[in-house]
Amino acid sequence: MTRWVLCLAVAMAAVGCNEKETQDAQSQPDPVEEIDLVEMGLSLHSAYGCVRCHSLDGTQVAGPSYLGIHGQPVALLDGTTVIRDEAYLRRSIVSAKSQVVQGYIASMGSYPHIPDIELDALVALIVSLGNNETSPIESTQ
Ligand code: HEC
Repeated sequence: MTRWVLCLAVAMAAVGCNEKETQDAQSQPDPVEEIDLVEMGLSLHSAYGCVRCHSLDGTQVAGPSYLGIHGQPVALLDGTTVIRDEAYLRRSIVSAKSQVVQGYIASMGSYPHIPDIELDALVALIVSLGNNETSPIESTQ
């Protein structure tokens, strides 16, 4: 529990989310109940600069959009096809070069130092965009 509180504090500081900090300090909620991982993921997406290369709405930037990718198969540069489950998404962030999506330049650096809770949040953000049935799945093409 203490670890969550600590991590949350660190995450908030990293994101510079002052508004939220004041709010949380006032209401003293149980942090485990109150963490909105998707919202936190959204803040980290900007804070870590993922936003430069990944869109949330299907727009192609340097990297694949997060929209609709969770649970979908993707062809990798090494010729294998994998399902983008949560373990895959985590690996894609921590160790980007270990699984490069076909059709992209491997321009993404790895983020081995991201704390677990922040990885959870970034993955939660991607997962939250994964069930949009109207979304184009072929965002990697
Ligand atoms: C400099 C541009 C750049 C930045 C910054 C960047 N990425 Fe990427 N990312 C890419 C590219 C290009 C790919 C596709 C090639 C590959 O797999 O390495 C990719 C692939 C991914 C994938 C796999 C996508 C798929 O379709 O399977 C995930 C997940 C991901 N990035 C998450 C992140 C997160 C989270 C951050 C921030 C912590 C981030 N990226 C920062 C360029 C970037």
